[in-house]
Amino acid sequence: MGIYVKAPLVLKLFGEHAVVYGYRAIACAVDRYVHCRIESHSNDEILVDTNFGTFTLREIPKPESAGRLRYVVSVLKIVQEVYGVHPRRIRIVLRSDAQPSCGLGTSAGVVSSLMYGLLQYYNISVTVHELAELAYRAELMAQGRASRMDTYTSTLGGVTLINDPPNSVRKLDIYNIDAKFTVLLVRRRRTTRELVNEVYELKRKYPDIVENIFRAIDSIVGKALSYIISNRFDCIGELMYMNHFLLMILGVTNPLLDQTILKARQIGIPGAKVSGAGDGGAVLFLSEQLPEDFKRWLQESWRNDLITLETVTIDNHGIRREDRATD
Ligand code: PMV
Repeated sequence: MGIYVKAPLVLKLFGEHAVVYGYRAIACAVDRYVHCRIESHSNDEILVDTNFGTFTLREIPKPESAGRLRYVVSVLKIVQEVYGVHPRRIRIVLRSDAQPSCGLGTSAGVVSSLMYGLLQYYNISVTVHELAELAYRAELMAQGRASRMDTYTSTLGGVTLINDPPNSVRKLDIYNIDAKFTVLLVRRRRTTRELVNEVYELKRKYPDIVENIFRAIDSIVGKALSYIISNRFDCIGELMYMNHFLLMILGVTNPLLDQTILKARQIGIPGAKVSGAGDGGAVLFLSEQLPEDFKRWLQESWRNDLITLETVTIDNHGIRREDRATD
């Protein structure tokens, strides 16, 4: 039957992009998952079965030449380097509740679940923080630039504060979390990697201006934190709008996305922002339900680019092993 692990996907509440440069951010794990199953396989190879196809690895390639498998390959490499284990004769099945590059940290879900699954398969025990750090290293290897936000949040679960103190991630102690969000998933044209690189280029061109925007985002995080730790999610809406429009200044949104956020504000949704690298992906509304006419407006405006509109809640457990199969 093998090992089955699931890792929650991640919503970025505040601070994306600035977090890559050491500023604070707040994220949360949600009740959508990447599912990973690992079982033994008779042939001397690694079989990788994903949402986008099945692949056979006879040896582990370099991550940069592994194409869509680079996250998987990075995990295999790290397990090999750190523990001297040479994964072979295994079948890896990975299934995500959300499409890749949709702003919900699917790549972090893949590296965290696979890392944990492999360590369980080879009977290697680690603490939850060690696991999160290994997953982060795998994401960094695959992506070039990444913060600890997604991998740690997916591993730890709940609501997390990133970079306070620098390079750390901690789970906030909030009991009976009182937050429900509606998430709109829309197709993205630019990938996380491209968007992170664009911000990097903008910062090279206008270092002072971009640092000031990052500082403003960091102040928003500080204010939001004081509400969130006292479970006052109802107060963070205005700060979400502010954060969104700072991301717009950084050039990572797009006109329809900005129009969506403006429309939400105009009709009185308490808070809304893009969540993640931008240019579509996940749009977060601070509301359990959206008015019917706004839903119609979203459908008519986004048309074929609209993937789903769902209510999500916070997953407080983080990554876990369960006794069942993926499919
Ligand atoms: O869109 P996502 O889920 O890949 O989130 C990216 C978040 C960034 O802050 C832009 C990058 C990072 O590694 O933190």
